[in-house]
Amino acid sequence: MSFTLLYPETIIFGKNSLEQLSSLLPELSKILLVAGRSAEASGVLKRVKDQLSDFEQIDAIGMVMAEPPLECVDSLIELGRREGVTAVVAIGGGSVIDSAKVAAALIPLEGDTGDYFYGKREINGRGLFFVALPTTAGTGAEVTKNAVLTDSVAKIKKSIRSIYMVPDVAIVDPELTLSMPPAVTAASGLDAFTQALESFTSSDANSVTRPLAKLAVSKIFANLADVYHNGADLEKRSEVAEGSLLSAMAFSQSGLGAVHGLAHPIGSLLKVPHGVACSILLKPIMEWNASSCAADYAQLAIACNLGVEGESEETLTRKLIYAIGQLCREMAIPASFADFGLSSEHFEFIVKNCRSRSMECNPRPMSDDEVLVFLESLTALRVR
Ligand SMILES: [Fe+2]
Repeated sequence: MSFTLLYPETIIFGKNSLEQLSSLLPELSKILLVAGRSAEASGVLKRVKDQLSDFEQIDAIGMVMAEPPLECVDSLIELGRREGVTAVVAIGGGSVIDSAKVAAALIPLEGDTGDYFYGKREINGRGLFFVALPTTAGTGAEVTKNAVLTDSVAKIKKSIRSIYMVPDVAIVDPELTLSMPPAVTAASGLDAFTQALESFTSSDANSVTRPLAKLAVSKIFANLADVYHNGADLEKRSEVAEGSLLSAMAFSQSGLGAVHGLAHPIGSLLKVPHGVACSILLKPIMEWNASSCAADYAQLAIACNLGVEGESEETLTRKLIYAIGQLCREMAIPASFADFGLSSEHFEFIVKNCRSRSMECNPRPMSDDEVLVFLESLTALRVR
């Protein structure tokens, strides 16, 4: 086995870790502060601004939309270049962190986001110093080297990816996740869960990522429903946030699987939030994959306390798939894409746009014809 690991230089996890922010920034930084309106409303933004009171700050608040289009990032880049910022701090969910991550990389370069999205230009060195503070426990954007963006005209959703885009600092403070509403807790938590599960079974998993992924699956599974029902429980929020970070530390190195391969084209075409798309796809993809990775699913079932050693792999796999279905139902995740209008007219686009690294890492290869059959079975799916 051989592998390369690529992580932020500093990863800090724990309650009150936000307080270390100012000490980690280069002296005299002029900061582009990128945050969503929810961070402003919850008071998290004020806490961050207080931490940064010794630095000059340029606010970019509420400039990033969900499933961020290229133009959102262009506005951040334009603001950053105009103001001459030297560092970027992002506070928010995956959309905010991904957009800010690209802005930090591109502000010192030439061209717009589309140039790099479509490969006309390449990121050829480190950008501005970049700190990510997630307020959701889900996407793992604080650790990864990629950012998922959308060309809303062409309806193309994919990653800009570069070794130079790994954040310099990731600060994961579970207190920042306390204000997440239940629907966001469910979607982002199930995204983190899916990422951990797909990392565990990825064909590129290694001896570092496998233990991290398994622990992430068990932590998130044990606590997610509880924080969905009681978002104020800091201990359990902390467990989910830790699970999400471990999930990111695994999947950022190992790659994912067919859930993510298909969630991107389906999400961009039908405007399904990423975590919801992953949650709907997870159970049917596990059923598809089970013949190739039942031993892995059995290990995860035992890690989630759904069974014990000695039970057959088939039984343990069935228990795991059933429990995941129950978890999704408990958190009001739609059972299918029926409400989003998935139909056969979308299949050609999905087949054409699903061939990412995620599909390559799926433990059971899927040909175009097999993707088509799978999509047909999804449209027939009404009841979990
Ligand atoms: Fe994801």
